[in-house]
Amino acid sequence: MSNQSDEDTHITEDGSLTLKDEETGELYHNRAGAYTEALVNFVEPLNLLPLASQRRQLAFLDVCFGLGYNTFTLLNELANLDPETDSIKVVAIEKFQKPLLYISRVLADRRFQKLMEQVSSQAPGLLQGNFGIYTFTLPCKSRSVRVHFDLLQGDLRQVVPSMVPKYGKVFDGIFHDPFSPRRVPELWTIDLFECYRKLLFEPTGTVVTYSAASAVRSAFKKCGMCVFRTTAVGEKNGGTLVVLPSNAATETHRLPLLDEESQKLAGRAGVPYRDSNFCKSSKEIEQAREAEQKLLFP
Ligand SMILES: C[S@@+](CC[C@H](N)C(=O)[O-])C[C@H]1O[C@@H](n2cnc3c(N)ncnc32)[C@H](O)[C@@H]1O
Repeated sequence: MSNQSDEDTHITEDGSLTLKDEETGELYHNRAGAYTEALVNFVEPLNLLPLASQRRQLAFLDVCFGLGYNTFTLLNELANLDPETDSIKVVAIEKFQKPLLYISRVLADRRFQKLMEQVSSQAPGLLQGNFGIYTFTLPCKSRSVRVHFDLLQGDLRQVVPSMVPKYGKVFDGIFHDPFSPRRVPELWTIDLFECYRKLLFEPTGTVVTYSAASAVRSAFKKCGMCVFRTTAVGEKNGGTLVVLPSNAATETHRLPLLDEESQKLAGRAGVPYRDSNFCKSSKEIEQAREAEQKLLFP
């Protein structure tokens, strides 16, 4: 396997693997666990049980696929349910091939044993770390479900806007997992979140992210969506769950924002990142945000 070096890999506290990004210096995951973060910050907030029992076809968008923990944990959890679903579509976006070259090591984890068996026999190209379109079966409790998996190479700032006219409101869940807003504000803009709103299945579609940043939460609110907290993993704050307003009052177990979190959204920290043509540099986006903050909160 080319381009793979053990210097880049770190074993997190739950035994799962993560990588360090050279450019931002950030780990791909929380030190408490790549698997745990995928489960607690991304998959559990989707509340899969009602979805799996009501919808014949499920669709998910995994933005910033990386090592694939979010998609693989999602499929694992669906396999543990007894879905009424006939097929599961997953579209994943990733800019670089490098993290894909670790997929075989990720799936070698005993927690992914069933998935590993299916992928290695039916989608060997995925195990080798290749972008492409794959189909394989997912053995669930009492039946098997067909998985259609599109692993797209590209910059999410180009791919996500182009998906709006192509796909429309189809996604039951969207995972948003770039490096942090401080490092890459261009991947956390209100303009991108507006695309997500247009891609969500109505009324039950949800967006989940690990970030609790006020600029991120307020951007989702300004797009007309409703924002909740998710459970903390390790030493980090909880992340964010975003739902459409028509679905905001239906589930009582969701965690509302704390008072101090809500207050921050209305202040300086809640001014969003903006990039209406998806082409500005991070510096330009930061500078425009600072100017807007000065104007609104002199
Ligand atoms: C925090 S990691 C994602 C971790 C991943 N979800 C996982 O479970 O392993 C961020 C990922 O975003 C990718 N990335 C960085 N810039 C991107 C861009 N503009 N478009 C799409 N992916 C990007 C990186 O290569 C990296 O794999």
